[in-house]
Amino acid sequence: MIKEKTVILGITGSIAAYKAADIASKLTQSGDKVEVVMTEPATRFISPLTLRGITGWPVVTSMWELSSEFSIEHVALAEAADIVVIAPATASIIAHLAAGMADDMLTCTVLATKAPVIIAPAMNDNMFANPITQENIEKLKARGFIFIEPAYGRLASGKTGKGRLAEIDKILGTIRKVLGRCGDMAGRKIVITAGGTREPIDPVRYIGNRSSGKMGYALAEAARDRGADVMLVTTTTCLPETTGMQVIDVATATEMKKAVTDAVKNADALVMAAAVADYRPENAATSKIKKDNAGLTLELVKTADILAETKGDFIKVGFAAESENLINNAKKKLKGKDLDLIIANDITDKDSGFGADTNKVTIIDKNGKVEELPLMSKREVADRVLNRVVGLIG
Ligand code: CTP
Repeated sequence: MIKEKTVILGITGSIAAYKAADIASKLTQSGDKVEVVMTEPATRFISPLTLRGITGWPVVTSMWELSSEFSIEHVALAEAADIVVIAPATASIIAHLAAGMADDMLTCTVLATKAPVIIAPAMNDNMFANPITQENIEKLKARGFIFIEPAYGRLASGKTGKGRLAEIDKILGTIRKVLGRCGDMAGRKIVITAGGTREPIDPVRYIGNRSSGKMGYALAEAARDRGADVMLVTTTTCLPETTGMQVIDVATATEMKKAVTDAVKNADALVMAAAVADYRPENAATSKIKKDNAGLTLELVKTADILAETKGDFIKVGFAAESENLINNAKKKLKGKDLDLIIANDITDKDSGFGADTNKVTIIDKNGKVEELPLMSKREVADRVLNRVVGLIG
């Protein structure tokens, strides 16, 4: 599980400074303590009061005003940090750091900290592409600083180019991935599947199901946050992009089977949260089927059972989506597919059905132990499942 972390959020004088408020808000909502350090130019773009209101902590804007909790030494913030994130980072702060110049509270904090430092640049495209900026970035990267590439898009100048602050979810994902390095899944490789497969009928239609992929994504993010190397095999295209993991996009059960077979090499665990079609049209029509006939019969053939057929020296976890006889049906699948754990959920319950953000599951293990969990968020369910996986990996 993630413990509360102290994140030092450095904000510098860029038009993207307002986006730092969103970063601070999301980190605070996930239970992290966010200490904001702003350069003087940053305070011209966004008020320290906004950040103070969001984080609940005093905001440091100069060497001479100190956060309430810390001692008089300006290195106290640096020592308290689990991670330092500069977002947005201007060309100027990057140059100062590359030159080892400690001339304000932010540069002092960065140079004094032993915590990992993430830098998310935001600037004019020419400034970013300038060889001086690039050399500074390379120099800092060689020293272990982690850079999040700026995005391509509309810039403050009205031009389009590479220099926009990276997407907030990408920054948050990178923070989680870096913080997870010391987690209880560090060094472990886990393969997770998500979403419902789509079996083509013709170039337009397919046989699908109502899986949203949310449970699989929650598992993938939870595993990443605990330090695992995550491979997410997904059919889902409508959930926000994830960061800090390898994502393999598939559509059909056949494609998912191939991706899983390749991915499980050297894996410690496979968790199949995907809703895989049990049948697919034998032959997908190559052109659109016209409605010329009164009826239409589709010839369906069985797909491979990915979970049952994927074997190896790793922990195997399945999900059992049931509308009746929950525990008995789940136990049959646990045995039939030779699983270590099965997560049973009642799909008729609206709070834990397809598409919900919450889930109510029962975890059953090989020894017949049945752990019934109350209704909780899919993220919490993910962490409860991973607690068991970590215990099994040993
Ligand atoms: N599964 C799989 N390959 C399939 C079907 C299911 O790997 N062709 C996996 C699912 O990802 C899930 C588990 O097997 O982890 C159970 O899936 P579920 O749909 O509940 O059961 P089925 O085995 O398909 O049986 P049934 O549809 O008859 O309940």
